[in-house]
Amino acid sequence: MAQSVKGMRDLFGAELRWFQHIEETARRVFGRHGYGEIRTPILEELDVFKRSVGESSDIVNKEMYQFTDKGGREVVMRPENTAGVVRAAIQHKLLASSDPVLFYYIGQQFRYERMQTGRYRQFWQIGAESFGVASPESEAESLLMLHSFLKELGLKQMVFSINSVGTPESRPAFYTAFRAFFAARQEQFCSDCHRRIESNPLRVLDCKNETCQAALEGHPVITDYLDEASAKHHARLKALLTDLDIPYEENPRLVRGLDYYTRTAFELLSSDLGAQSALLGGGRYDLLVKHLGGPDVPAFGWAIGLDRLAMVLQQIHGEAPQVAPALLIPLGERAATEAFKLARGLWDAGIALQLETRGGALKKAMATANRTGIQTVLILGDGELDGGTITVKHMATGEQESWSMGEVFTRLK
Ligand code: HAM
Repeated sequence: MAQSVKGMRDLFGAELRWFQHIEETARRVFGRHGYGEIRTPILEELDVFKRSVGESSDIVNKEMYQFTDKGGREVVMRPENTAGVVRAAIQHKLLASSDPVLFYYIGQQFRYERMQTGRYRQFWQIGAESFGVASPESEAESLLMLHSFLKELGLKQMVFSINSVGTPESRPAFYTAFRAFFAARQEQFCSDCHRRIESNPLRVLDCKNETCQAALEGHPVITDYLDEASAKHHARLKALLTDLDIPYEENPRLVRGLDYYTRTAFELLSSDLGAQSALLGGGRYDLLVKHLGGPDVPAFGWAIGLDRLAMVLQQIHGEAPQVAPALLIPLGERAATEAFKLARGLWDAGIALQLETRGGALKKAMATANRTGIQTVLILGDGELDGGTITVKHMATGEQESWSMGEVFTRLK
């Protein structure tokens, strides 16, 4: 029997209903904030990710689905969506004016990673990117939107981890201090960290190795080395978050796994995901648009793992709401014909309903209703047809009653 490719899942049933509920909520909340959707291709040229996510990142180094197409192009199945959105915004000259441009996306991403709970090789992200505004106010606005989105989904414990990773101008001062710290205890760090301290020192802070994390105790903190403007920016964002009642904590080891960030970087971990798994992450990337060949336009954004969010919501709330909470069961041919008319009327009125079309025994249909979580069963037989009524069974209580046809519409609504 053929199986899906390792790390790639089929989505259906209760899990997909959570996906749909999350997507609907996202569209509603983001639309309210003036964000418009963008959909970019799954395949991008290799260079788009090399130049954005970064050649020293794990994503580009080890995790990309990369191949040469029949025309000899080096292409990649996108491991994330920010680079593609930036590429599209440049290509279509969407950032030509000084107006802010706000996008959100919902789509599959691909990373060849080691499988574990909540980590897949094809996974989904919902993300938002805002272009054209460099202020901490724009970050607070985006974070407030994210916070409202998660609150509407019923997520309760939300404490954002935030940090500032400075700018290319302010980082050398930190690197000097940090390299000196590293050199004084270098034998305690893993071989990967010895490579990182040369190529991208910030990555050392992010090492998953426990010995390295212990060796980092008392390390120089990047926010102590920020230039004046970045320090002011960071302080202003924190003040805004406090004022908006958005809980956060500062995490000086938060550096993110992608290279394009400047100043603000943030994540939200969820204990429901087990071992230190991030539910979402993002930050400011003021240099990326220009770096990919566009105008000098600042940007800020984030992405949330949809697979992980659905998992968390299922843990908190259980099953997602049923799509068809009622089932109409006709008994006999005459009733089946009439049932179509009734069902059509209900569907046209926007009422959710499933129609039993197998014919045959009531018992079989009731068993299906039980198994699939149907809340209300409507039974239409000859007796009901003659009396102009319908028999209604409430599955939760087992209670039975009789409704008039008019009542079916008002009660099911
Ligand atoms: P990221 O931190 O690499 O950031 O990914 C964001 C989220 O995608 C993660 O927090 C996680 O929930 C989910 N995710 C990542 N890898 C997997 C996986 N293998 N399986 C399941 N879920 C996964 C970005 O991708 C940036 N583009 C975010 C951003 C947008 N920054 C600025 N704008």
